[in-house]
Amino acid sequence: MIIGIDIGSTTTKAVSIEDGRLIRKIKTKASDAVTSATGAFGKMIVENEIKMGDIQGITITGAGASKIKNDIFGIPTVKIDEIRAIGTGGTFLSGRDHIIIANIGTGTAVIEAGPAGIFHLGGSGVGGGTILGLAKKLLHTSDFNGIMELAETGNLNQVDLLLEDIMLTDISFLNRESTASNFGKMLDTAGSGDIALGIVNLVYQVIGMLSVFAAKSRNVNRVVVTGNGSKNLIGRKILLNITGMYGISFEYPQDAEYTTAVGAGLSWEAGGKIG
Ligand SMILES: Nc1ncnc2c1ncn2[C@@H]1O[C@H](COP(=O)(O)OP(=O)(O)OP(=O)(O)O)[C@@H](O)[C@H]1O
Ligand SMILES: [Mg+2]
Repeated sequence: MIIGIDIGSTTTKAVSIEDGRLIRKIKTKASDAVTSATGAFGKMIVENEIKMGDIQGITITGAGASKIKNDIFGIPTVKIDEIRAIGTGGTFLSGRDHIIIANIGTGTAVIEAGPAGIFHLGGSGVGGGTILGLAKKLLHTSDFNGIMELAETGNLNQVDLLLEDIMLTDISFLNRESTASNFGKMLDTAGSGDIALGIVNLVYQVIGMLSVFAAKSRNVNRVVVTGNGSKNLIGRKILLNITGMYGISFEYPQDAEYTTAVGAGLSWEAGGKIG
């Protein structure tokens, strides 16, 4: 069994890979990389009653991986590049052979994975962290689920300048409800729900368009969405709207929030020495 650990900037994910299959998965959150990695490993072992002797190795990746300088609890530990881990995990979980991956974590990375290899196309600092940061100041909450509940009640028309506000007719393939300017209207009557929806809309529209341009530039018509941001149902609706306009589809594989950890676990043999 190999344990893959993804020490992300916000959360740490760990998975067990046995005979090339994803078996167990856990999530945890800690303030520093060492506590995150050892904590995730310990949680995986204790909750699943895994015997240490059954673990062949550990692969670590993610923003915090560079802070780990030694084998974890004496088990052979290797490190793998995060982009490679996302590409490998995204290919495995989606079951597709040529894809664009939009990994929505704290920030967003856009990756191509195909027969020619795994390539980092680019990304954006706009991601899940943007939702939490803006909500903290604008809505005075850091509770992710609370922000989403607020957004459910929101009306975009209160915060975004829509095409219908400035045009009498459609422009090319854009319909009248399309955003012309995120937060470009911001009426005095805008409430917390409207602002919450405006924040989520801003983040997913930026990521959606970035993904569309990446997909079109690589002649791919499908984007696999991974990271914690793939679970966001309002975000999925916004991306579906983009599919309607640009013809690029967005897919959400099962366990997509563990993509990076899965890719790490699957790449143990390719991993580099630690330290
Ligand atoms: N229950 C939750 N608690 C905290 N954040 C959540 C929750 N559900 C979703 N999120 C979102 O998930 C984001 C973190 O996603 P994820 O764990 O994939 O990132 P990461 O791997 O830590 O970061 P990165 O890959 O950018 O280094 C948060 O910024 C937040 O927007
Ligand atoms: Mg991540």
